[in-house]
Amino acid sequence: MNIKKMLADLIGEKIENINYEDLIIESISSDKGDYCLPCFSFSKILKKNPNQIALDIMSSLKKSDYVEKVEVVQGYLNFFLNIKAVSNVILADVNKDKELTLGSGKVVCIDYGSPNLAKYLHIGHLKTLIIGESLSRLFEMFGYTVKRLNFVGDYGTPFGKIIGGIQLFGSIEEVKKRGNDALQDYYIKFNQLEAQDEKYTQLARDIFKKIEQKDEEIYPIYETIVKISLKDAIEKFKLLGVEFDDYRGEMYFNQFVPELIERLKRQNLLSISQGAQIVDLSEYDMPPAIMLKSDGTSLYASRDLSASIVRYHDYKFDKMIYLTAVEQDLHFKQWFKVAELMHEDYASRLEHVSYGRFSLPDGKISSRRGKQAVLVDLIEYVLSKAKDVIKDRKFEIEKPLEVAKKVSRAVLNYSVLKVERGKDCVFDVEKAFSFEGETAPYMQYTYTRIESILRKYNEGIGNSKNAECDYSCFNADAFLLTKMMNSFESDCWQALVKRDPSFVAKRVMDLCKAFNKFYTSTKVLEGTISEINAKIKLLNGLKKILKQGFDLICIDSLKEM
Ligand code: ARG
Repeated sequence: MNIKKMLADLIGEKIENINYEDLIIESISSDKGDYCLPCFSFSKILKKNPNQIALDIMSSLKKSDYVEKVEVVQGYLNFFLNIKAVSNVILADVNKDKELTLGSGKVVCIDYGSPNLAKYLHIGHLKTLIIGESLSRLFEMFGYTVKRLNFVGDYGTPFGKIIGGIQLFGSIEEVKKRGNDALQDYYIKFNQLEAQDEKYTQLARDIFKKIEQKDEEIYPIYETIVKISLKDAIEKFKLLGVEFDDYRGEMYFNQFVPELIERLKRQNLLSISQGAQIVDLSEYDMPPAIMLKSDGTSLYASRDLSASIVRYHDYKFDKMIYLTAVEQDLHFKQWFKVAELMHEDYASRLEHVSYGRFSLPDGKISSRRGKQAVLVDLIEYVLSKAKDVIKDRKFEIEKPLEVAKKVSRAVLNYSVLKVERGKDCVFDVEKAFSFEGETAPYMQYTYTRIESILRKYNEGIGNSKNAECDYSCFNADAFLLTKMMNSFESDCWQALVKRDPSFVAKRVMDLCKAFNKFYTSTKVLEGTISEINAKIKLLNGLKKILKQGFDLICIDSLKEM
């Protein structure tokens, strides 16, 4: 139900060009009504005081069953809704199955969670993975077709170093056996050699050149490394509930760079600086975008730009969103500009979305992998905590390990999504497990409470033939919950527009808190049958919305906990 529009439509005498619907806001406290229209901004046009204007609007209002009473207080026109009539419409609406079509027929590509292969995923990857996944789900909610793209980092001298390491002190068998652990060892050892003797720098470069030239001996080793490392990354993504449609990485798109360079030349966009091919961006207050190094190898920017051309060809995207840490702002600004200068018609559809840092309090998690904050260590640590918590619960739970996994994933994902996208955050694991306060287990537990009430109802009164609902029993807590459910869809749209799922996370948390308040003040399964039916309708709708909300923020709902 669009309450703001309904209220705006009641106003008889309107000032032209004023959108009343946009001006009506939710009241901060219930004694000021449910919604209000502040009349201060009309003062200038009408040359009257706001209070008088509010009184005039009040006298022009059409009658409506949805409005109980109207009051004017200090320049505000306050609307008190008719709880019974409005709840009836909202709850019928919320419980209906409907498909959202705002994004139908539109394709959104989201490039996120892209790791540099042959290295451990670190805890920072949690942010891009979870925000990216949540954003994807938000777009899908509104009917968009989403393509999840992972631009894996499988290009560059680190691969020369690792292969150098294999040749000097390792073996491919070891890599096959120990996976990323072996790759990291070789990389670290090779770096130590390099620090002592410069010739190793050249060796790594030479090996990487051979990879690029698909050298018979070297290239298969490179392929094995990439395969093993990608498989490992995909396993970790799965632990977090993330899966991609397209894993073509930097090496794949590198093959299109020569074509790109030819085009840039034809369009007169290239110039040479110290042997490198660059696009001068001084006119736009940016350092030059380097497209090709003096040794003829490509750069991050040229590979990204080539990828965008190929991806546009493949997906005909309406939006292409890149999700990375803020440190990459300039990189994207630069090559987006180059795409624009090339008159690529999709240039205006490119969008970079960045996020703040994610860290742990010092010394929190011990790692067998040295000082690095490795993602899998965090995942394992959080899972072990979840198992402890589950063990402490008094009642029997069917599959404790399954529940522990779902709780731990929720704790991890919520730790990312509860913070505004752009802000830095420190993840306090201990606090995140509390059943009180704003935590994921609190939300999951709330859901199980609703489930259990609904179960009880279905086993008892739910069997009665009387399906009538009497909403006159709704108190302020029930009505607040109803109104919040009503605005959930537009809250999600706001989150999508802002590219910030933390707004959904906040809304879901608010709904849980509002439910718990309602639960304290209301005996759900007491009263007449029609009164109970009404409260159950509220809870059915809430369960549906929470399930959807949980799914949007990558949290599993549980039946019991
Ligand atoms: N692999 C890069 C990194 O770890 C992130 C890639 C982001 N996506 C892109 N198309 N540039 O920093």
